[in-house]
Amino acid sequence: MTEKRSSVHGEWSSGLIFILAATGSAVGLGNLWRFPYLVGENGGSAFIILYLACILLVGLPIMIAEVTIGRKGRRSPINSLRLVARDEGISQKWSLIGWMGVIAGFLILSFYSVVGGWSLFYTFEALKGGFSGISSDAASSLFEGLVASPGSVLVWHTVFMVILFGIVAAGVKRGLQRAVTLLMPLLFLLLVGLVLYGMTTEGFGEAMTFLATPDFSVIDASVFLKALGQAFFTLSLGMGAIMVYGAYLPQENSIPVSTGWIVGMDTLTALLAGLAIFPIVFTVGMEPGEGPGLVFVTLPIVFGEIPLGLLLGIVFFVLLSVAAITSGMSLLEPSVAYLTESTGGSRVKSAAIIAFLIWLLGAACGLSLNIWSGVTLLPEKSIFDSVEYVSSNILLPLGGLFMAFFVGWMMRTHTVASELDTHHHHNLFLLWLYVTRFVAPAAVLFIFLNATGLLAF
Ligand code: PHE
Ligand code: NA
Repeated sequence: MTEKRSSVHGEWSSGLIFILAATGSAVGLGNLWRFPYLVGENGGSAFIILYLACILLVGLPIMIAEVTIGRKGRRSPINSLRLVARDEGISQKWSLIGWMGVIAGFLILSFYSVVGGWSLFYTFEALKGGFSGISSDAASSLFEGLVASPGSVLVWHTVFMVILFGIVAAGVKRGLQRAVTLLMPLLFLLLVGLVLYGMTTEGFGEAMTFLATPDFSVIDASVFLKALGQAFFTLSLGMGAIMVYGAYLPQENSIPVSTGWIVGMDTLTALLAGLAIFPIVFTVGMEPGEGPGLVFVTLPIVFGEIPLGLLLGIVFFVLLSVAAITSGMSLLEPSVAYLTESTGGSRVKSAAIIAFLIWLLGAACGLSLNIWSGVTLLPEKSIFDSVEYVSSNILLPLGGLFMAFFVGWMMRTHTVASELDTHHHHNLFLLWLYVTRFVAPAAVLFIFLNATGLLAF
């Protein structure tokens, strides 16, 4: 048996810190911004049901597989895959999954940072008292004004990337770990507070009805693909973020138990976000199908109207920014770890180079919302929309599919079993192995084939 490696970047101080960090990666704009608007656009709870099925049958098993590769390899995803493949006596070409992840990470962070920038802008707007008595027209124009202004979009995108650079440059222990221990508990407190508030609003009943009446008529192959893409996106799966965090997980901590917590908390947060946001949407008489502007347009109206609203507004946008930052860090980390490993140079330098490249790409995404709005990459999709679509609906599920295949079919079963430390839960291990080998890949392929129209159901 090969000896256990240790991470060259440092390790989390405990398994609990890993859970916190990976939950920080998972919980983000995906939960608080993307999930609510996708639910609103795609049939309410019908979408939620598909999404939950994807989380359970595809997301959780693949997360276990991804962390397993990371902890076995103890390096950046590219090198972890290479080392594990070498140890297992299989082709080191499998490290190409890691490269695909790097591309996905670049693409995701480029539009993520633009939206992260919006949350920073809204935080300052809230602090300035800008929501006070705001009408729904004024709220719409605030958002449209922001998005239409190349200057503001670029400035806030830049601020967001600089914050990420600062944290990631500081390293695993002094940077990432310190940031999540401070920020994650705050985030949960804030969200629960907002849900409790939502329960007191008059739109609460209508929101419950909306969430409890699934509209299956809107479900087609493309909605299936969106639910799958969202499952990968929200769990940070398929591009190496969770893998690299797994590389810093101490050997004695259980992978299945930790991932169970991470998936549970992420799902809870998404559902809580829905519970917090839809009552407000209905209270102000907005359409749930509003799209990407959903949280940015609707929430300020309420915050401007209700007692303590200005305070709640600050709280919510701080929450959104915090969640975006702890996720953004993990999008940056795989490539920064890789560059640091390959150059043997300083982490600060690697972080600066990568953050700059992503900043450039992000600038293109940001400008595609205004001066370049006529430019399309995919048919009828702006740069921003194309980048979002390709990365989350194609690259992440594809990366996850390969990871499941690698762990389920290529690695020796006893290597995997020993990393997962499953002596006392043999049947659970077999169940996971079966799902990882057959169910998860089949589900991803099925959804892919359907969405491309190669297979219709
Ligand atoms: N999971 C994050 C969110 O929901 C986004 C993310 C995707 C982070 C992929 C890392 C990797 O906001
Ligand atoms: Na998430």
